[in-house]
Amino acid sequence: MPEQGFATVVAVDGPAAAGKTTTCLALARSFDLRYLESGRTYRIIAFEALQREIPVDNTGKITGLCDELITESRSESLLTSERYAPEKLRAAPVNVAVSTVAKIAEVRQRVTSLIRLWAGAQTRCVIEGRDIGTAIFPAATVKFYLTARPEIRAMRRVRQERAASYENVLNDVIRRDAADMSRTVSPLVAAEDAIRIDTSELSLVEVLSRMSSACRNRGLEINR
Ligand code: DC
Repeated sequence: MPEQGFATVVAVDGPAAAGKTTTCLALARSFDLRYLESGRTYRIIAFEALQREIPVDNTGKITGLCDELITESRSESLLTSERYAPEKLRAAPVNVAVSTVAKIAEVRQRVTSLIRLWAGAQTRCVIEGRDIGTAIFPAATVKFYLTARPEIRAMRRVRQERAASYENVLNDVIRRDAADMSRTVSPLVAAEDAIRIDTSELSLVEVLSRMSSACRNRGLEINR
């Protein structure tokens, strides 16, 4: 599907726990952008598969489940469905299952179509994920690739979710990096024209300042 007609898309990609959500929400406020967390959709599919005891590596069944969920949520779009509490979608079993679900080409095709459809209805948006600037919107207005050393990402996540143990979070981050980067379909990689920001030694304010100036340089107007 061509990506014609999308006024402004800010693409924010990068590995797990690189600070994409925090920075996207801040950019959304500053530049009056609609925000989409694309990983949530893969999480919903993984969560439903676990609930229904469907093996997450069964391509046919998971694709069927994906179609069913899309049909069921037609009026509100699976992407933005309010039926799922964040803590359910962020539970440890979902963290493990989601990488397998996200490897399935048929599932990625469907999620890609949903995201393009959603973005087509917005004037300006910011979308976080793994393949937004590479596969979904190669002509996005601005592309960022946020990253940080795994130990730093794990530490920040533990500070956010106090119940999590550092070792478990670090192992999950490393495992998901490997899965996201090594899959055949739309692996996690920085787009050639993405602005890469290694946030390991930067404060949130510094990261946001770099992102905001890049957005302004590309013609985005600050929200007053
Ligand atoms: O951003 P997140 O951690 O909630 O994403 C969950 C998983 O979904 C992540 O391990 C990889 C996958 N994902 C993806 O493959 N493509 C996207 N655009 C977003 C997420």
